[in-house]
Amino acid sequence: MLIALLPGDGIGLEVITETRRVLDAVCGDRLTYEEALVGGAAYKAMGHPLPPETLAIARRADAILFGAVGDPDCDSLERKLRPEQAILGLRAELGLFANLRPAKGFKELVNESALRPEIAGAIDLLIVRELNGDVYFGEKGMRKTDAGRRQGYDIMSYDEDEVARIARVGFETARARRGKLCSVDKANVLETSQLWRDVVIELSADYPDVELSHMYVDNAAMQLVRNPGQFDVVVTGNLFGDILSDQASMCVGSIGLLPSASLDANAKGLYEPIHGSAPDIAGQGKANPLATILSAAMMLRYSLGMAAEADRIEAAVAKALAGGARTADLGGTMRTAEMGEAVLRQL
Ligand code: NAD
Ligand code: IPM
Ligand code: MN
Repeated sequence: MLIALLPGDGIGLEVITETRRVLDAVCGDRLTYEEALVGGAAYKAMGHPLPPETLAIARRADAILFGAVGDPDCDSLERKLRPEQAILGLRAELGLFANLRPAKGFKELVNESALRPEIAGAIDLLIVRELNGDVYFGEKGMRKTDAGRRQGYDIMSYDEDEVARIARVGFETARARRGKLCSVDKANVLETSQLWRDVVIELSADYPDVELSHMYVDNAAMQLVRNPGQFDVVVTGNLFGDILSDQASMCVGSIGLLPSASLDANAKGLYEPIHGSAPDIAGQGKANPLATILSAAMMLRYSLGMAAEADRIEAAVAKALAGGARTADLGGTMRTAEMGEAVLRQL
């Protein structure tokens, strides 16, 4: 099986290095890798954040393992050349519309959460985030108003088919878990969200066994901190899902813990931590590699049919945490490589 390995920028390189060691230990030569530049690194070497060679490797691979992109040196480039366009381009070009972002409390980490232990311990939710539409991909630009003032704009829109295909993923994953689906929108203000809610309600007729609820996104942000244990599957749009998943990570304990899968209609996938390139700690050996290691486990389970190997990695991570392994984000002193070694020891 061929893996496209795209470390990207900043801590992306550091967390992918540890993840590769774990994959080598678990899968050996059953996996082969083609590594390519992406993001700011690709822009600096080749003049584009998502060079055609990188996209071609991603297309022919069985799965993509992605670190992170983002480089402060590139923040003043025109938008289409910025590192972030690489991940947006991969999601769009490969039709990766379904972003699964699980947030599960580790009992070993309830004291590292920003929430009280009894609240943090109850977290076991899955954010199903739409990834190919919304305000991310609408028309955008800068223009002058009639009064001559600068104006920026980004069009938010969803059509009913886009909503229906992600809503089905929400219903199906809820059905396979605890049977509860909460659709998060802003239907009290946005037409985009009114259509979202209407389509979700129409589809719910096909899933009478799933308990459906609706919540406005502002309330959802509050409820995630008040009582995250109430959520099973949360289905939402691209922007709301982006924000809520960073928030959910801190309920579990750290942004350095949450993995993700971005899937197309045939479960071909890109796997990446939910965090970014963390320029503030890049190159210092401080990054927590667990989000990426857990993303690799999701890759084995969802795209490569290696569920037993995925289980082994997840169990090793839990045991490493139970044994006290802590990087700085979790209040400890371990370096990135030491956390990788703590997981390797448990395999
Ligand atoms: P970020 O997620 O990179 O970092 C936010 C904070 O969390 C920082 O203080 C960072 O040090 C910390 N952090 C993140 N990951 C960590 C880890 N594994 N271990 C320990 N601490 C960790 O978000 P940001 O600072 O807003 O963005 C930095 C750059 O990353 C930007 O260019 C942004 O566009 C990009 N970004 C890329 C992705 C992606 O590639 N999918 C995701 C988010 C942000
Ligand atoms: C993420 C990131 C990306 C997003 C950025 C880097 C485009 O924040 O993967 O969560 O907003 O989707
Ligand atoms: Mn994000």
